[in-house]
Amino acid sequence: MDTFKAIAERRSIKHYDPNHIIPTAVVNRLMESALLSPTSFNMQNWRFVIVSNAKTKQAIRKAAWNQAQCSEASIIILLCADLDAHKDPQRYWVNAPKETSNALVHMITSFYQNKPQLQNDEAMRSIGIAAQTLMLGAKAMGYDSCPMIGFDRNKVGEIINLPKNHLIGMMLTVGKAIKPANKRGGQLAYNQVVFNESFSHQ
Ligand SMILES: Cc1cc2nc3c(=O)[nH]c(=O)nc-3n(C[C@H](O)[C@H](O)[C@H](O)COP(=O)(O)O)c2cc1C
Repeated sequence: MDTFKAIAERRSIKHYDPNHIIPTAVVNRLMESALLSPTSFNMQNWRFVIVSNAKTKQAIRKAAWNQAQCSEASIIILLCADLDAHKDPQRYWVNAPKETSNALVHMITSFYQNKPQLQNDEAMRSIGIAAQTLMLGAKAMGYDSCPMIGFDRNKVGEIINLPKNHLIGMMLTVGKAIKPANKRGGQLAYNQVVFNESFSHQ
């Protein structure tokens, strides 16, 4: 599917065919494309948990104010991040020439260490970009999705055994729509959100 078509056709879908099972090959392709999403310094700080088990989906639904898409969707992808990803940075540049690798490794450490707010921001940036890759990838393969933040992060963290110093940024439901999305809520005008050169010029 053409990228622009996938962008235009992706919508947040709230009702899915609960009997549809996504083939493993589709899930693998989806996740492999997510792993190509860009991250700062190639830090690959995202971690993904794919939930397909009915009981676990139901437990997540309970922790998400009973939103139906959690149990109806074929899978839920929890988009998490390792806040310690900036540590041990050699692993991100194994294919680079030694000089480049040494310089970047030094930069990663000094950029992130002892800066918890920046580590948190970087986690959210990486997760956001990966989420869009996943949603467009799903659309391109004939699947629908819904990004979600409407859930209790502590409860869902317990369900998925979230490791220490990790966070959950959002989750995505993925499956086959059985009900189309509602009409778009309403888009802000182009000139309310797009500025040329600076905020003082339209
Ligand atoms: C970060 C984020 C969190 C969201 N959380 C929820 C949610 O918990 N439940 C839900 O039904 N929709 C959720 N949405 C979907 C938005 O309501 C939806 O993206 C928006 O209304 C635009 O509609 P569209 O995605 O169909 O274009 C979320 C979207 C984003 C980006």
